[in-house]
Amino acid sequence: MADPIQSLYLDSSATCPLKPGVVEAMTSVWSTAWGNPSSVHHEGLQAVEVLERARLRIADSFDAVPNDVIFTSGATESVHLAILGMAASLQPGRIVISAVEHPAVTAAAQALQRTGWEVTQWPVDSLGRIKLSELSRMLSPPTRLVSVIWGQSEVGTLQPIQTVGAACARQGIPFHTDATQVVGQGCPMWSKLSADLLSASAHKFGGPKGVGLLLTREGVRERLEPIHGGGGQEQGYRAGTQPVALIEGMAKALEQSTRWTPEDGPDDAGQHSSADANPTIRTSRDALLDQMLQDPRLILTGDPHWRLPHHISVMAHNSKGDPLSGRALVRELATRHISVSSGSACSSGKDSGSSVLAAMGMAPAQQRAGLRLTLGGWIQQHHHQQVVDALKESLNALDEAR
Ligand SMILES: Cc1ncc(COP(=O)(O)O)c(C=O)c1O
Repeated sequence: MADPIQSLYLDSSATCPLKPGVVEAMTSVWSTAWGNPSSVHHEGLQAVEVLERARLRIADSFDAVPNDVIFTSGATESVHLAILGMAASLQPGRIVISAVEHPAVTAAAQALQRTGWEVTQWPVDSLGRIKLSELSRMLSPPTRLVSVIWGQSEVGTLQPIQTVGAACARQGIPFHTDATQVVGQGCPMWSKLSADLLSASAHKFGGPKGVGLLLTREGVRERLEPIHGGGGQEQGYRAGTQPVALIEGMAKALEQSTRWTPEDGPDDAGQHSSADANPTIRTSRDALLDQMLQDPRLILTGDPHWRLPHHISVMAHNSKGDPLSGRALVRELATRHISVSSGSACSSGKDSGSSVLAAMGMAPAQQRAGLRLTLGGWIQQHHHQQVVDALKESLNALDEAR
C-alpha cells in the first residue's frame, strides 16, 4: 500500500487509505473467483461462494443476518434505494429529512417531491442537532418516511437516531439513517439499532471505492421496491452483477472494525451519553482540538460532546474576528503538506457557502469559513504540533493578505 502520509492526511471523512490486507484479498478474488456469481457452472459457483461468505462476514460485523445486507455501489446509491425504493410502495405523503443531510439524501427527497411527495426539513439547533422538541410535529400525518443522517460529515454532530427510530417504529413509519460517516468509526450493532434502513460506503472505512451496502430490517425490507430493473440480484432488490472482489475488500475492511452499541447523546435536558465508537481516536482528536482552540481565530462548530470521534470542524477568522475563506485556508495548508477539507468533499468544489452551517444559523460570511480535519489511525500525537504550526502559519498568511 502507498504510504498515505507523504503529507499529513486529515481528510478521512472524504475517503480513507485501504486497510491492511484489502488489496491482497481483492487481488486474490480477481484472479481466482472472477466468474459471474449468478452463473451455475464451476466459475460461477466459485464466485458465489466468495460472495456469500463475504456477505456472512459483513452481516456478522454488524451483528446482522445475511439477508439484511444488500450490496450497492456506495452510499449514494444505498440512500436512493432506501428512500425511493421505500416510497415506491407507499402512498405519496410527507418525507421528513434533517436540515443537515448529505446532498445524496436531499437529492433523493427532491426526486420524491417531483412525484407528489411533500418534503419537510427537521430544523437543527446551533450545534447541528435536530430539535427533539419537534418530534411529534415531524412524525404527525401525513409523514410516511423519515431519513436522518447519523453522523454529520461537515460538522461531526451525531443525531439522536435511537430516539427518532423508536418513535418512528411506534407509529409504523419506516426510518432510514445515512450512517456513512459513523461506520468508519466502528460497526454499530444492527440488532441494537432502532433503524429500518442504514446506508454506508466501503471507502469511508478502509475498503475500496465503488461498493457499499444498505442494511434492511426484516418486516420493512419486504416493502422495498428495486429502483432499477435487471437481473434480479440481491434478493431482487438491487439488479446488476455484484463486484465480488470489491465486496471481499469491504468484508476485509469491516472485519478490522470493532462493534459498538449505539446510544443517543444528550436529550432535551442536556444529558450526555457515554457511548463511544472509537475511544482511541477520540483521545487523539481531543488533544489536537485542545491545541487548535488555543488560537482564538478558530471556533469549534458542531456539538462539542456528541460528535464523530475522529472529527474536528471549526470556523476560521482573522485577528479582527472577520470570517476567513475555508477554501483559501485548505490551499494554504496543502502548501504546508497538511491535507484537510473546507467541508464535505462533495461541496468543496464550489464556494457557495455551507447549507449545513446556514441551517445551524451561521451568517453568510461564516458559512464559507468552515474547515474540517478528520483523523485516521495514522495520525499520532507526535504529528499534532506539525498540524497546529501549519494552521498558525496559514492563518497568519491569510490574515496578512487582507
Ligand atoms: C454522510 C454521507 N452520506 C453519503 C455520502 C456519499 O457517499 P459515496 O460518495 O461513497 O456514495 C457521503 C460522502 O461523502 C457522506 O459523507
